This record gives sequence, structure tokens and C-alpha cells, in this order.
Amino acid sequence: MLEILQKENKILREKAEELKIKDIKSLKIKKLIKEMQKTLASEKDGVALAAPQVGESIQLFIVSKKIFGEEENKKEIFIFINPKIIKASKKKEWLEEGCLSFKGIYGKVERYTNCTIEALNEKGEKVSRGAGGLLSQIFQHEIDHLNGILFIDKAKDLAKITL
Ligand code: CO
Repeated sequence: MLEILQKENKILREKAEELKIKDIKSLKIKKLIKEMQKTLASEKDGVALAAPQVGESIQLFIVSKKIFGEEENKKEIFIFINPKIIKASKKKEWLEEGCLSFKGIYGKVERYTNCTIEALNEKGEKVSRGAGGLLSQIFQHEIDHLNGILFIDKAKDLAKITL
């Protein structure tokens, strides 16, 4: 299991490096993805995780398929490498948001209702994916992580929820 960096750890503020195709296919990255998958699966409230959150300043994030609700998908993930938002809706919404690097803190962040990203998958193939609702919000939150931007920078009505 990997440690999830908290709050103002410097790595969370770096602009993450793009990966080259040969890096994507390397054992190091394969292992990292497996470890990130395990780490995310162990976080009850976690739906996505960006590599900088586990100390790797590279352009990679994963999303748990549990966002689609199916029990059998709980541990499966989508992998996005070198992602870019290529299209976004005019419409934005203020949505409740949290982050595994800010446990117990929630706030409202304005996000595009729909967006499309282009990225590479774990095989180094180009993929594009359109999303609405929660997945659109996740894409924007995770791509912010890869640019050293944290949700608290954009959030209003921040509140600490004690468990
Ligand atoms: Co986050």
C-alpha cells in the first residue's frame, strides 16, 4: 500500500512530467499502477487517485469503476496518462468535492458539467472519453492535481467533517 501525501506536501504543488510511450510500458509504471489500484481500493471514500498524491510527479491518474455503482467493478480502474481536456461545456456547476489528500475536508468547486479528455491508456494507445456528472468532475479534479492545483484553491464553503 502506498502512502497518500497530505495537504501542503511540495510534490502536490509540482507540475507533473509527461510520460513517454516506453515509460508507460516499463515495469516501474506497471507496478506503480498496481500499487495505486490497491491503495485506492482501500479508501472507502476514494474514487480516483493521481500519481503525485503517492509521491510520483508524473501525468497519470486512475478512476475506480465503482463510480458506476456495480459491485463487481469495485476494484477495477480506468487509467489515464498525459491527459488533456479537449472540450468542455459552457455550463458549469458548483459541486460538493473532497480529496484523499485532504481527509475530512469538503467544499464546493465550480466544474464544467461535461468535458472530453484525450489521454493515453496503459498500453500507450490514444483514447478520448467524454464525461458528464461525477466523471466529468473527477477528470477536472485529477487534471488539476497533475498541474499542482488543489481543490482547496478553488473551493468555497470549505468545511471540516469530523468522523
Ligand atoms: Co484529489
